[in-house]
Amino acid sequence: MSINREIRLASRPFGEPGVEHFELAEAPVPEPRADQILVRNTWMSVDPYMRGRMDDAESYIPPFQVGSVLEGSAIGEVITSRAAHIPVGATVSHFSGWREYAVMDAATATVVDTELARPQDYLGALGPTGLTAYLAVTRTAPVEKGDVVFVSGAAGAVGSVAGQLARKLGAAKVIGSAGGPDKTKKVVEHFGFDATVDYRAGALAEQLAELAPEGIDVYVDDVGGDPLQAAIGALKVHGRAALVGMISQYNATRPVPGPSNLYDVVTKRLTLRGVLVTDHSDVLPEYLAKATAWLADGSLRTEETVVQGLDQAPAAFLGVLRGANTGKILVRLT
Ligand SMILES: NC(=O)c1ccc[n+]([C@@H]2O[C@H](COP(=O)([O-])OP(=O)(O)OC[C@H]3O[C@@H](n4cnc5c(N)ncnc54)[C@H](OP(=O)(O)O)[C@@H]3O)[C@@H](O)[C@H]2O)c1
Repeated sequence: MSINREIRLASRPFGEPGVEHFELAEAPVPEPRADQILVRNTWMSVDPYMRGRMDDAESYIPPFQVGSVLEGSAIGEVITSRAAHIPVGATVSHFSGWREYAVMDAATATVVDTELARPQDYLGALGPTGLTAYLAVTRTAPVEKGDVVFVSGAAGAVGSVAGQLARKLGAAKVIGSAGGPDKTKKVVEHFGFDATVDYRAGALAEQLAELAPEGIDVYVDDVGGDPLQAAIGALKVHGRAALVGMISQYNATRPVPGPSNLYDVVTKRLTLRGVLVTDHSDVLPEYLAKATAWLADGSLRTEETVVQGLDQAPAAFLGVLRGANTGKILVRLT
């Protein structure tokens, strides 16, 4: 209990990262001060955006520092509390992942209700990825009744939820893109999309045109690159796209050329709009109220790829960048 294990950034990658860029280290378990809590982490999240934090580049969130412990979303149990409003034994969601024990200001942790949902749900469907999906289809590119919706990264954490929420909002047809036959099958059979395109199996634009000859109204972009170009081509006049992420270029070592059909944005008067979940924590209560009910009644389906142990967290993260996960990837720490 007195030794903490944590993952630090060993060095910065150029291009695709490897396990050598991470270091498993030991440090004393810190002592909480007044208004702080000590948490034993039970689950942590690895997320594609963390690739950007491995570079020494300015962005919306500061880079990880070489030699320092990484951070990210995690769930844990409070084992010592010096804060009046968080009791020992509470389950909290917080941002001090990549370590087994974490001390934090109690104000930065949120107590989650494990009667309503499983602790790990608060890292996925009830966490940042679920909220991102909700923002995309209700705020950034609102889905309307009768819309044809296309979602890239459809077998992943954000995409799988976005497609299901689009359906709840009345979409007439929901099409996903994913890599390989197992994932495309799962997108239809488990997540309830109407159809999928396999971007690894050939020209995306042609596959999409076959499935949506009438065009699409809304695109949720997790990937950038080819799916974005295909979606711009398929969007109808006044169509809209929520630009959520561009995972296809996170390991790029030189600037990536943009879609060659951007002039379509002019001629079709399209709206392409970015979204960052960190701007919208005010929407979380609204979303949680709906999503906990949907999880409970089974109308929002989830899937997890679980990796066991802190020492496997770097491999889990590298796996996400290569498509090793279906649904939300999680690292179980206990
Ligand atoms: N804007 C925000 O606030 C926000 C919040 C959360 C996430 N995001 C972004 O949303 C996207 C999805 O995140 P997530 O957490 O839900 O991850 P995820 O979709 O669960 O996992 C990433 C998936 O991306 C796919 N992928 C990887 N490389 C690809 C490539 N070159 N081309 C096409 N697909 C590729 C893989 O699926 P396949 O096997 O199907 O290729 C992989 O499983 C990411 O871009 C992430 O950065 C943004």
